[in-house]
Amino acid sequence: MDLVAYLNLCSERPDTRVGCCEISGFSGLLCIFVLLLYELSIEKLVQGGEGLARLNDGRVCFVRGGLPGERCRVELTAGKKDFARGRVVEVLEKSADRVQPRCPLYGKCGGCSLQHLDSAKQVQYLERVERENFKRIAHQELPADFKIYQAEPWGYRNRARVVYLGEKDGRCRFGFRKQESNGVVAIENCPVLTPGLNDFLKNAKAAEIFKGLKRIPKDLELNLFDDGTGRVAYYFRGMPESRRQECSVSTVEMGGKEIVSDASVFFQSNLSLLPRLVQSVREAVDEGIASGAASDEWLIDLFSGVGFFAAILQDKFKRVTTVEREPLCLKYAKVNLCGNGGVAGVSPAERVAEAAESSLSKQGQQGDPRLRGDDKKVVKEDSRWSEGEASPFTQVENVSAPAEDWLAKNVVDKPATLIVDPPRTGLPPEALTAIVKSSVNRLIYVSCDPVTLARDFAKFSTAGFTLKRAEGFAFYPQTPHLEMMFVLAR
Ligand SMILES: C[S@@+](CC[C@H](N)C(=O)[O-])C[C@H]1O[C@@H](n2cnc3c(N)ncnc32)[C@H](O)[C@@H]1O
Repeated sequence: MDLVAYLNLCSERPDTRVGCCEISGFSGLLCIFVLLLYELSIEKLVQGGEGLARLNDGRVCFVRGGLPGERCRVELTAGKKDFARGRVVEVLEKSADRVQPRCPLYGKCGGCSLQHLDSAKQVQYLERVERENFKRIAHQELPADFKIYQAEPWGYRNRARVVYLGEKDGRCRFGFRKQESNGVVAIENCPVLTPGLNDFLKNAKAAEIFKGLKRIPKDLELNLFDDGTGRVAYYFRGMPESRRQECSVSTVEMGGKEIVSDASVFFQSNLSLLPRLVQSVREAVDEGIASGAASDEWLIDLFSGVGFFAAILQDKFKRVTTVEREPLCLKYAKVNLCGNGGVAGVSPAERVAEAAESSLSKQGQQGDPRLRGDDKKVVKEDSRWSEGEASPFTQVENVSAPAEDWLAKNVVDKPATLIVDPPRTGLPPEALTAIVKSSVNRLIYVSCDPVTLARDFAKFSTAGFTLKRAEGFAFYPQTPHLEMMFVLAR
């Protein structure tokens, strides 16, 4: 907090507590600290899970750990001209929905900041937050039937990134990065992770994990992925290529397909609720085709990751295009869209190896950099079945490029079915403009950030699109995050 803001705060005469301590080794040197404590009433929960309260000067204060209806003693942590931030140090009047956080690291590790709210009530609160958000940002109401699907509130998270902290008594020790700081907090057990991931954290042996490594880099981060059966795949930068197949590749059965992925790339992190999202997307696709607003001629899956949605839906379409920026995803997208979701007797790892090998033989000794995944500059279309091979299934193109670049170069001139699933930042403006200018009349927008979704919707709305369907998916219980699916049409 800067000095002016600090003095402003003092002038409001809050409940100020002064303390002092002697810094050891510097006798006579006293450090005086002042805690500015306010008694505030929390009005409502806002995006990010903080409680909203008002200071005497009219500024809003976002209070970490506060729940609507509570009166709390709050320590201010930041003061700006228009708003302030604080955290609850004491709850004076408690909400009936407040519970004891289950995790001993609550407030320390930076994740799961909504643990003080009863799990059974979280969805209700998030629905209210999203309705308000949408009204504020998109100036429209979410449909009355907007609902949020939910599954297990604990032990659900199948993906994690942990920091290796060394080995003690033959056991690896791991930590989570703190939010908004580079610090690390050590973990023994995390109640939102799947039992498979917690077993890994408890039993991992450094000699096994880091086999083949001469030296373990400092601050090494590991990506962990539980495929839903408790088998954990892992990846860290510098992992010997020879160990990649065995350690990083995994397969998830979803929507009647075997989807192959790798712990180093994006994959959804709530496998128990994912089938519900898949069902909603499938229904939205079917409705679009049945209504004639979209067609079964062409499915375009933008921000496709390893081709997750396209692989599950490809049987419905004559032509499928996946577009993804991360080059490593390409080889998995190729495998996942190679046909009917698996060849009997051939393991997914073998399919990945086969795809890479066949590309190497086609491209010469150096191989195709898209399959090596080491050339981020390659922006080139790969038409798997257009090289003279007849596809027994669908015509498939797996493209390694930013979605906005692909849209700029490719004319979408038929009423294709379009799915977009961008990262938290939402659609790049050029991508949104290109979609609006194309002949796409209906799109399915999957989002992990309701704020950027509302922002993008407002732009689509100006261009004539209306909201046909809106659903939420509580993919991240104990946190304020929410997955959403919108269907837009014009
Ligand atoms: C939320 S994930 C969705 C992945 C996939 N739909 C799935 O369900 O597994 C977003 C993906 O978009 C990719 N991405 C981010 N920016 C991109 C861009 N400008 N163009 C294409 N892909 C992008 C990321 O690498 C990531 O794989």
